[in-house]
Amino acid sequence: MARVFVTRRLPGPALERLTHIHDTTVWPDRLPPTYGQLREYAAQAEGLLTLLTDRIDEPLIAASPHLKAIANYAVGYDNVDIRAAHARGIPVGHTPDVLTDATADMTFALLMAAARHLREGIAAAHEGDWVTWEPGRHLGADVHGATLGIIGPGRIGQAVARRAGGFDMTVITGRRGDHDSLDRLLRRADFVSLHCPLTPETRHLIDREALAKMKPTAILINTARGPIVDQVALAAALHTGQIAAAALDVTDPEPLPQDDPLWQAPHLLITPHIGSATRTARERMTEISVENLLAALDRRPMPHAVPPPVS
Ligand code: DGY
Repeated sequence: MARVFVTRRLPGPALERLTHIHDTTVWPDRLPPTYGQLREYAAQAEGLLTLLTDRIDEPLIAASPHLKAIANYAVGYDNVDIRAAHARGIPVGHTPDVLTDATADMTFALLMAAARHLREGIAAAHEGDWVTWEPGRHLGADVHGATLGIIGPGRIGQAVARRAGGFDMTVITGRRGDHDSLDRLLRRADFVSLHCPLTPETRHLIDREALAKMKPTAILINTARGPIVDQVALAAALHTGQIAAAALDVTDPEPLPQDDPLWQAPHLLITPHIGSATRTARERMTEISVENLLAALDRRPMPHAVPPPVS
């Protein structure tokens, strides 16, 4: 029996498989443990089941002498220092595939909501500002037939592209690192949707220069990671009308502080990182995280291990 720390309560029954076998502590609060609390628990633990809100850095790993496995409850793992974990021989798991469609659906929901001014329309209807049928009000952009630029054509990017096919959209893709294709994408796309992981190379990939290349009618959607966008530059681009609108499911930091100037930007829609928030996806994420942890604690390969870092 190993000592395991789970940093939040998780949906679905799968966690019981873990508590049944191992000496498991589940953090009971709505808010995550602080870094200090996390370090205290990790110092005693052989297994950690972590969320994207938990910073698992090199000092924490170094201060956790018994640690044998980390299962991250997300497909992204930028919150874990993979290099430090691998240097200690600690496998890290994540939850790919099971949230692909949920996140692609959410991307499309944001794309449509931003294009058709849904937030403003709902507010008008609910707040007594629907006084008549107005030919020139709430005019949005066409989604059907538009050009969608997908940055990061991995699993989720491809799932978004499939949805775009149903709207007769032209899909163009760009890879970080391929400067020319990225440049073309930014200049041509009516919608730019981000699906790349957060790495040192993609941090502020969408900066002032990138935003300046986009059409004044273009709409930016981010369901990947907040720091991929330079939010100061984005706020400026929205204020000056350099781009038409943005829809963000992720921000930097999360949650975005109430006094952050980004809240004042026009034509901006923000949701609280709910891309994978369907019951099915989140329950499957619990199952996969538990399977990853059980396997590693049993000295078997994790079914969904994060690949070792490229040296
Ligand atoms: C992930 O899995 O990386 C998402 O951001 C949350 O589900």
